[in-house]
Amino acid sequence: MELRQFRSHSKFTRRFDARPICIYGPNGAGKTNILEAISLLSPGRGLRGAAAEEMARRPEAIGWAVRGELASAEGPRRLAVSVDLRGGAKRKVDLDGSPATQSALGAVIRSLWLTPAMDRLWIEGASERRKFLDRTTLAFEPKHAERSAAYERALRERNRLLKEPSPPPAWFNALEERMATAGLGILQARRQAISRLQNAQEHAKTLFPKAEIAILGEVEEFFGTTDKSADVTAPAENEKEQYTRLLRDYRSRDMAAGRTLLGPHRSDLGAIFSAKGVEARYCSTGEQKALLISLVLSTARSLRNDIGAAPILLLDEVAAHLDHERRAALYDEISALGAQAWMTGTGPELFNTLGASAQRIVFDAEGATPETTDTP
Ligand SMILES: Nc1ncnc2c1ncn2[C@@H]1O[C@H](COP(=O)(O)OP(=O)(O)OP(=O)(O)O)[C@@H](O)[C@H]1O
Ligand SMILES: [Mg+2]
Repeated sequence: MELRQFRSHSKFTRRFDARPICIYGPNGAGKTNILEAISLLSPGRGLRGAAAEEMARRPEAIGWAVRGELASAEGPRRLAVSVDLRGGAKRKVDLDGSPATQSALGAVIRSLWLTPAMDRLWIEGASERRKFLDRTTLAFEPKHAERSAAYERALRERNRLLKEPSPPPAWFNALEERMATAGLGILQARRQAISRLQNAQEHAKTLFPKAEIAILGEVEEFFGTTDKSADVTAPAENEKEQYTRLLRDYRSRDMAAGRTLLGPHRSDLGAIFSAKGVEARYCSTGEQKALLISLVLSTARSLRNDIGAAPILLLDEVAAHLDHERRAALYDEISALGAQAWMTGTGPELFNTLGASAQRIVFDAEGATPETTDTP
């Protein structure tokens, strides 16, 4: 992995093997920044959802680059994402040395993350839960990125059209057809991901709690009963017609609102803590955290069974929030999965029990050049 001019890191280059990686050092040393950099090798805005300019190291602020070399079943892959602020703030993606789209990254690297900000996932608005749902879905279905981007583009255009004085209906028709195709693909992929996740939870022997999860929303009420095995790439023609008709019928409602009210961009993720039958948002902070970890581990387990490899896990400050027993359970599961989990914490003691089964990045008191040691 190599970072250039990325936040606090002017240059960081390291080689790692498949073992988990523990990153420790004082506050502000640049630990989360490393996790964020890895998250940027997947489609989207990374684990902080930051703008490209924000991540350029100050005061230079010239741009940044993140490069990764991945050992995969298909052989080594090279991924790079960079931004040159002097040439606009557009992200440039390179795959094996050739220019590529952000969406294309989804087919190469699968990663999932948990951050302290996600502690509030179950109690805040739907948008963070939707992002979590979409990241999980993307891990299962790389095409989800492309479809989501296509949907977002059509949605933006339709929303713009809704605000015009008297737009020609034909313009709506074309956009709504695109939205129906992409939208149904999104719904289907999400549904399949959740059903695989649910399945992976049921067969797991784990200390982490089980949850009953469901995707909620108006559009799900119309299209919630589709056969799960149906082809994601080609939504049934009658569903597409029905979806297009709904959007047409809702034009005046949407015009009054000034935006599209029906669609997967408004979905929510509901979870019930199975052991207690309580909705996730009414659970304790620790229970909510354990629930999230449980969902991430189940996704990893399911992926390992399906494609033979667990995703890369970025677990920011996760160990610190777990009691001794749960921490041990987390490490056991990560080892059993063979997942390359990147975990941060302020001190080495959090990772002692991992011994030589993990690699380490140690930051010193100044947060200067990190030293890698392979044994504790
Ligand atoms: N664009 C930037 N340019 C230079 N420094 C930056 C930039 N963005 C963030 N930083 C700095 O990066 C430092 C490290 O941030 P990071 O979040 O990685 O710390 P951390 O090691 O995870 O700390 P903590 O233990 O508190 O979570 C911070 O001091 C922050 O000021
Ligand atoms: Mg941090």
